[in-house]
Amino acid sequence: MEGDSVVTGELKLRIFPWDITVKCSRGETLMKSLNRGGVFFKDTCDRKGTCKNCRVNVYLEESAEQKELLACRAELHENTQVSVPTNKIMGD
Ligand code: FES
Repeated sequence: MEGDSVVTGELKLRIFPWDITVKCSRGETLMKSLNRGGVFFKDTCDRKGTCKNCRVNVYLEESAEQKELLACRAELHENTQVSVPTNKIMGD
């Protein structure tokens, strides 16, 4: 496989509340990783960072930082845990 679907698996993302773990490439957007884990937001801004529907709580494991970020704008640079508000995802 080539292109966007290639995942080097450098990093791990744990997705809560489902406790799904996906492998991620360094620098890939959180949104892309969440989509690979089967999580899709009610995106109303085409990932421009304006609708705020993809706001999630993240815990950065190496730096032990907790933040609120927009999944469409945030890039992964370390192993991360994310808590997704279930009222903001498709299929809710
Ligand atoms: S998809 Fe709209 S802010 Fe992220």
